[in-house]
Amino acid sequence: MASEEKPGAGKRVCVVGASGKLGQYMVRHALERGYEVVGVCREQSVPKLAEFEGRMTVIGARTDDREAIERAVDGCDAVFTVLVPWGMKHYSSGTAQAVLDFAKPGARLVFSCGWHITRDGEDVYSRKFKAVVALFRVIGRLLRAADLDDQVEACRRIFASDTRWTVVRGSDLEEGPSEGLPVWSRHVGDPVLASNMTRRTDFALFMVAAAEDDSLVREAPAIVGRKTPSAVAHASKTA
Ligand SMILES: NC(=O)c1ccc[n+]([C@@H]2O[C@H](COP(=O)([O-])OP(=O)(O)OC[C@H]3O[C@@H](n4cnc5c(N)ncnc54)[C@H](OP(=O)(O)O)[C@@H]3O)[C@@H](O)[C@H]2O)c1
Repeated sequence: MASEEKPGAGKRVCVVGASGKLGQYMVRHALERGYEVVGVCREQSVPKLAEFEGRMTVIGARTDDREAIERAVDGCDAVFTVLVPWGMKHYSSGTAQAVLDFAKPGARLVFSCGWHITRDGEDVYSRKFKAVVALFRVIGRLLRAADLDDQVEACRRIFASDTRWTVVRGSDLEEGPSEGLPVWSRHVGDPVLASNMTRRTDFALFMVAAAEDDSLVREAPAIVGRKTPSAVAHASKTA
């Protein structure tokens, strides 16, 4: 991207959960777009961001640490938050609440989750999808490893807030080179989404690009890779 056209020039963003796979892709995209980047990740995960040393600021803290989030989002024009439901201590909702409370008024707040989150109850899920989510919910609770309901609660709070939020709902993910910005739809079950696959780097690209797209404010786009069969079929129908 030529420097004169970089959308992030002079702007600061925060990636909350920067050390994970999605987080690292977001850091890369944000730097590429010219943003100054602050990242938050657990202390023990700071080394995962070594390749960005000198190019970003890293705050080592749990993402639901309110004091750390207050510091990290200070002055940020956008905050990209990886919502994960690990543990049974309200990690997702604590993380989301801290971002909602401390981001500067008017900042773009972009959160990640999966298709299982529904905003208006109008999503249509396959039996297989529902079974997988139910299994994850039960096993996560039994092992006390993950609390899917807390991710639901996090999103409920985001949807109810009057901030400039976007909740990006990811399909199944795969690694591989970028295929470009994913396409999206308001409801799971819409034919364009049927392929249910997105490159992880493109999920991150959609998150970062969402901060520059006001049409996504207070939307919960469900995304799919733009080169997947369902997206291609949809594009040829609407061409
Ligand atoms: N995986 C999928 O197929 C899929 C599908 C749709 C949507 N999504 C969404 O995509 C986002 C990222 O998912 P991902 O699969 O790509 O994973 P990821 O980017 O690797 O993220 C995992 C995150 O969880 C953190 N984490 C792991 N164990 C933890 C623990 N015990 N306590 C606290 N934090 C912990 C990691 O932090 P550390 O680096 O500190 O370990 C990292 O930030 C999530 O919002 C998810 O809902 C995923």
